[in-house]
Amino acid sequence: MILEYEHYGFMGAASGQEGIALVQHDRPDLVLLDIKMQGMDGMEVLRKLHAHDATLPVVMISGHGTTSTAVEATKSGAIDFLDKPLSSERVIVTVQNVLRQRDLNLENRELKGAIESKYEMVGDSAPLRAVLESVRRAAPTNATVLLLGESGVGKELVARTVHRNSPRAGQKFIQVNCAAIPEELIESELFGHEKGSFTGATEKQIGKFEQADQGTIFLDEVGDMSSRTQAKVLRVLQEQEVERLGSVRTITVDVRIIAATNTNLEEAIQRGEFREDLYFRLNVIPIVVPPLRERRDDIPLLVRHFAKRISVDHNLRPRRFDPKAMEALKRYHWRGNIRELRNTVERLMIMTTGETVQFEDLQPDIRGGAAASPPVGAPSGAPAEIPSGAPSAGTLREFKDTAERAYLVQKLRESDWNISKTAETIDTPRSNLYKKLEQYGIKQDVDG
Ligand SMILES: Nc1ncnc2c1ncn2[C@@H]1O[C@H](COP(=O)(O)OP(=O)(O)OP(=O)(O)O)[C@@H](O)[C@H]1O
Ligand SMILES: [Mg+2]
Repeated sequence: MILEYEHYGFMGAASGQEGIALVQHDRPDLVLLDIKMQGMDGMEVLRKLHAHDATLPVVMISGHGTTSTAVEATKSGAIDFLDKPLSSERVIVTVQNVLRQRDLNLENRELKGAIESKYEMVGDSAPLRAVLESVRRAAPTNATVLLLGESGVGKELVARTVHRNSPRAGQKFIQVNCAAIPEELIESELFGHEKGSFTGATEKQIGKFEQADQGTIFLDEVGDMSSRTQAKVLRVLQEQEVERLGSVRTITVDVRIIAATNTNLEEAIQRGEFREDLYFRLNVIPIVVPPLRERRDDIPLLVRHFAKRISVDHNLRPRRFDPKAMEALKRYHWRGNIRELRNTVERLMIMTTGETVQFEDLQPDIRGGAAASPPVGAPSGAPAEIPSGAPSAGTLREFKDTAERAYLVQKLRESDWNISKTAETIDTPRSNLYKKLEQYGIKQDVDG
């Protein structure tokens, strides 16, 4: 009656046996379970319920003389207990708390899953497996790792994987993009400063090394540091201590260093741009992340992985990739590596109308033929402009449809409404063009 009055759905069972059957059939959010019952007692029912689903929240109800059993029950997995006689307030507060807790747990699990899938390393090629093997060996140690490889190969992802598999996984992972911070700010970014230590230092700032204490610092684009910063970083690596600008105090830090670069450091040393002693400090465990064109076997796996993620992230219908399209994606040289592949898949998912991404949907340069100039909006050419007449508001799909329609009408006019000719110029099968004309209700304009 208490629960019904509060508009909770509620089912009763007259025995433990009946209760177990009910739970398995109806999957309730929460179980209130008496201890003293005919036949199977509450403790046994609790064990059986949890053997089936350990996450099911169970609140024990203790009568006269069973309070200690109820306490015992919370130790063996019950989430809380209520004393008889039941007070309506206590019941309501307990139920509310348990349900809120359950929602938080669910949310937490979802977020964790989302983060994990975001940083999941996909691929099964021999070169990638070699990278993962190095990660497996390096991760449990405190050794400095130097990640080398072209832009977009996944160096950051590897750095995060090292951290997540290290004893420091529960601590911070602090990323510093050495190329993105202006030269005059990088020292205060890395080491921090005291208030008033220079003009503009209105507040004290904790540097990245200090923030990463006990955790991992990821020095990205390490080849782009000025010689002055290189000297300072070298000192931290040697002494494991930092000094904030404007302070005489040294602070001891315990950080694991992972560095990454896409420049050839040995050449930079030859040119006198990178300190050799810093290079030796960083190059303890070098891991070369190979370009995508050297591990083409990973491409289908990556395409499917991105397609799935993108359809979830953008609320798009899932799409399959036609074998011929997949072959072309596998053959392409991918100068921008995995980042470029990801962007391509994203674009295909948004721009393709059918259930399946066909070879014809690919950009001409990926298809490999000496194709016509890229259509308006194709990213290989000049950046797409918003066609006049297209709405700047509305959903992506509305925008896309309007833009596509305007583009088709224009092209048809240019070829005097000759379908075959238009299909050829815009490099799409005639059947597809017919489909589009019907879809958008395009008819030849009267004045031609
Ligand atoms: N093996 C992989 N599985 C899934 N996604 C990956 C993989 N490798 C890289 N990615 C994704 O590709 C993109 C580029 O990766 P990342 O930023 O790690 O590259 P990078 O080597 O640091 O590039 P840059 O040198 O340009 O900074 C990211 O979105 C990343 O999540
Ligand atoms: Mg990076």
